[in-house]
Amino acid sequence: MKKLVSLLLAIGLFLTAAHAQQADTFSMKQFRAIQQKIGIASEADHHQMMELLHIDSLRPGYGGEPNAKNPPNTDETEANPYPVLPDPLRLSDGKKITTPQMWWEKRRPEIEKDFNNDIYGWAPKHTPKVAWKVISTAHETKWDIPVITKKLIGEADNSMDTAIHVDIQLSVTTPANAGKPVPVMIDFGFVFPPGFKFPASFPKPKGIPWQQLVLEAGWGYAVLIPTSVQADNGAGLTAGIIGLCNKGKPRKPDQWGALRAWAWGASRALDYLETDPAVNAKEVGIEGLSRYGKAALVTMAYDQRFAIALIGSSGKGGAALYRRNFGEGMGNLASSGEYHWFCGNFLKYDGPLTADDLPVDSHELIAICAPRPVFISTGSPKVEGTWVDDKGQFMAEVAAAPVYELLGKKGLGVTNMPPMGTALLSGDLAWRQHFGPHTDLPNWPYFIKFAKQYFK
Ligand code: GCU
Repeated sequence: MKKLVSLLLAIGLFLTAAHAQQADTFSMKQFRAIQQKIGIASEADHHQMMELLHIDSLRPGYGGEPNAKNPPNTDETEANPYPVLPDPLRLSDGKKITTPQMWWEKRRPEIEKDFNNDIYGWAPKHTPKVAWKVISTAHETKWDIPVITKKLIGEADNSMDTAIHVDIQLSVTTPANAGKPVPVMIDFGFVFPPGFKFPASFPKPKGIPWQQLVLEAGWGYAVLIPTSVQADNGAGLTAGIIGLCNKGKPRKPDQWGALRAWAWGASRALDYLETDPAVNAKEVGIEGLSRYGKAALVTMAYDQRFAIALIGSSGKGGAALYRRNFGEGMGNLASSGEYHWFCGNFLKYDGPLTADDLPVDSHELIAICAPRPVFISTGSPKVEGTWVDDKGQFMAEVAAAPVYELLGKKGLGVTNMPPMGTALLSGDLAWRQHFGPHTDLPNWPYFIKFAKQYFK
């Protein structure tokens, strides 16, 4: 799994570079050289952030390979060093939240503020306007269904720094003959530049394409390219939407990281969908895998217009509890390869402080999605690996349930992890762990079943 993940990370860097250079093909040698350059610049920015925070050293992340020097913990008896989670239904002054009104007016804003301050960062109050342009429209047939696919660019107003361009890439496919506006699932997608070949060893996820399932349900789908909003590396923080808002200057410690920037991009995509007559914008969902699973959860939490979410193997930084010590560690998230997903302040929790000092944990990110439906998906630890901490994701979902219940909704309905393959679909929080690798494809059919209860 870790190999796969570094490959994905490498592809992410590769795509960023490819996007930046508009090149047609890359040799592996060019690819490595670009990767190295990005790595060096990211380390410099990471270091500068540590200086700003007066942090001398961070605890190192775990090695991912099975025989790594500093392997992650995979022993369940050692996995809960900080078993007490912050109570989503108790204010920081200790007062218990007993009514929906108290939740909306007092506790929810407090949780959101804590996530802003210490984990995902504050987005600027005013962000540039995005002008959406349809650049092509294709009438085509997909899986025997006539569809219309529009490719769009969302150009962010860059009058504040004309050297920085943010052109958000989005494609939207809707059934041609629906006769009424349809629900749409937005996916955070990867793009592969022309000429790019996957290594033969790359396991192709098995299953019916999710796009086919969505169209067969009578819905549409959209693919948003997150790296067109914000690069997936620290070197890129002075560009993209974060850099544009900072006029090309490095971040302050409480400013947003890439996860919130990607979520911001998804919100702008939803702005566009609200203007598209083919789309029922009240029934738009968000989905992503891995780092984009984290981004999908952040999107759902921060923008209450999103109706539903499918969160694929998001691991730590997404649905898995920070307070757990299983699989990926805080040191990995705070390292120069991943810190850019978060705000600078997050580094403190891998330096002088620990995960136990965080004012919030991931169950509260799920909780602020309430009362809207969320499906958490993960794979098999034997095939996917233990890096994403399947149990930590499940525990967070269980711990989010009291908020759903306060708002008159239903949680998972169980507190013990069910056998692999069991779909828990009876509440407004849903769960399924499939038997396969690092993908959410095998869980899409269950998600569609879940979503059909909401998309009328
Ligand atoms: C790395 C990272 C994870 C992330 C994953 C991915 O493994 O440590 O946090 O989810 O990459 O996005 O592929």
